[in-house]
Amino acid sequence: MDFKGRDFLRILDFSEAELRYMLDVAKKFKEMKHARQNHKYFPNKNIAVIFEKTSTRTRCAFEVAGYDLGMGVTYLDPTGSQMGHKESIADTARVLARFYDGIEFRGFKQETVDELARYSDVPVWNGLTDSCHPTQALADFMTMEEKLGGLRGKTLAFVGDTHNNVSNSLMAMSAKMGVNYIACGPTALKPSDEIIAACQPIAEKNGCTITVTNDINVLNGVTDAIYADVWLSLGEDKEKWGERIQQLQPYRVTMEMINAAKPGAIFLHCLPSFHDLNTSIAKDVYEKFGISEMEVTNEVFESEHSVVFDEAENRMHTIKAVMYLTLNDKN
Ligand code: CP
Ligand code: NVA
Repeated sequence: MDFKGRDFLRILDFSEAELRYMLDVAKKFKEMKHARQNHKYFPNKNIAVIFEKTSTRTRCAFEVAGYDLGMGVTYLDPTGSQMGHKESIADTARVLARFYDGIEFRGFKQETVDELARYSDVPVWNGLTDSCHPTQALADFMTMEEKLGGLRGKTLAFVGDTHNNVSNSLMAMSAKMGVNYIACGPTALKPSDEIIAACQPIAEKNGCTITVTNDINVLNGVTDAIYADVWLSLGEDKEKWGERIQQLQPYRVTMEMINAAKPGAIFLHCLPSFHDLNTSIAKDVYEKFGISEMEVTNEVFESEHSVVFDEAENRMHTIKAVMYLTLNDKN
């Protein structure tokens, strides 16, 4: 398998075998990290991590994974570089590629990360765009495999805003890994025809299904994992809160939903999550719209079904695997 020098821009760019290998390498890194085994394989490499949108997990995962691999890491915050304001993406890419061995980018348009990759001759890793979140999907599948004891033939249901970045990457990952995918949400927020058209033939080839529905009862008795994400993604207009709440309230993940799924079903969330009133946004929403829980009830979030913090930890191991494989001279 040849990973050296490749970008990690979207799940669909990789074969099932390559994704499988990434998960296996992530598992090894997790074991090494837990055993406190040194794995500073790249003491002479440096990476830049660029964030046009804010982040906790993705930023920290790239930074810690970078340090664990022995690399130097430069963080550029949403306003911390000339990129896009004073210097084009193409010029920035060519400059950074002279300094760094790899570049992570989180931002709005997928075209920006694609352009960075086109103009830089070092690997570029997608840390989330409006259209996908591929490193998230890797961590989610690592977590599902750990908790469910396998992937092929399992059923994952994403409940809520099914046309968002996380759902897009999960649909692609499901199709590649032989997992049945249910996108359950209001018809107005259904996945784009393009993403379905791209994933459907892959799913068919792998013997799994993609179901798009607005009926939460479709999950009953068949679902091994239920996934929720925020109702309004980073960069979306705050004016949309009212409309989204109205559309998505019936799709809040509740204990009834979990109990109606398969026995032992797990709950996943990419985080951050609005499951209580302990954030300023949740408080604002409560004052304006009177709801104290959004995409998931606090009961589910804090229950034994919830694997969200293992999932968050796995961001770091999977991102480390992606960097290791694409930077490794021996691959
Ligand atoms: N899940 C995730 O990407 O979290 P951050 O926005 O904190 O990076
Ligand atoms: N859909 C969310 C994911 C956050 C990790 C967003 O884009 O804000």
